[in-house]
Amino acid sequence: MGNIYAVTNQKGGVGKTTTTVNLAASLAENGKKVLLIDLDPQGNATTGCGVDKESLETSSYDVIMTTSTAADAIISPEELSFDVMPTNADLTAAEIQLIDVKLREHRLRVALESTRDRYDYILIDCPPSLSMLTVNALVAAKGVIIPIQCEYYALEGLSSLLKTIERIKQRANPSLEITGLVRTMFDTRNNLANDVSRQLITHFGNKVFHTMIPRNVRLAEAPSHGIPIVKYDRSSRGSLAHMALASEFVRRENK
Ligand SMILES: Nc1ncnc2c1ncn2[C@@H]1O[C@H](COP(=O)(O)OP(=O)(O)O)[C@@H](O)[C@H]1O
Ligand SMILES: [Mg+2]
Repeated sequence: MGNIYAVTNQKGGVGKTTTTVNLAASLAENGKKVLLIDLDPQGNATTGCGVDKESLETSSYDVIMTTSTAADAIISPEELSFDVMPTNADLTAAEIQLIDVKLREHRLRVALESTRDRYDYILIDCPPSLSMLTVNALVAAKGVIIPIQCEYYALEGLSSLLKTIERIKQRANPSLEITGLVRTMFDTRNNLANDVSRQLITHFGNKVFHTMIPRNVRLAEAPSHGIPIVKYDRSSRGSLAHMALASEFVRRENK
């Protein structure tokens, strides 16, 4: 059964999309069957996978609105070794359109029931908020992957994310767990980053992935070419780090 992971942190710009795209690509390089779901109306993961978000016939919006099945919204881009459920700004409307709908937070989970068996791993790129869309991802997920940029305010938003996870665990999804926290854009020469990193380990222990993703300009360049780092510059530090993260993730998840 395809295990579903929500890649989330309500802070923007912490590396959610970069982690989702490159972890998906690295898992696929290891022969895993992977689906990436873009659940952020900004559609950055969609673009980063080389998919034109302005010309989508179906998207995760249609899946959330139940006007399309998950299978119909999934594409297999030629340059990639994994599948993508893309999105665009249409998805913004879902929040408002479903405001009075019962069980709206279960839409993604239900939609994936018939498709998840086709994949080893399904990774969901979440928007920078604890919105209905993020809750949909958390209700569908087995695990949560939290990218953290080790800066001064890094820990501040974390408590509301943890509360949201706890609330969802108590009601809609008792088996939800934190898979791990990923330190992103890490600079080992930066004292503050090292301090925040130590605090993270104090709070979360072995939930913090050993693998750190370094700040690496090749990682920032790859999305503009519509390919993951492993296809753009395989031997770059950013690529090697994501391959290591994928191995650590698979070891942890024992699959
Ligand atoms: N390890 C990294 N090294 C260099 N740039 C990075 C790295 N991770 C992310 N970036 C860049 O930082 C910006 C924010 O990253 P992104 O993954 O889009 O964050 P989020 O999805 O959380 O908003 C993007 O421009 C991205 O290319
Ligand atoms: Mg993003």
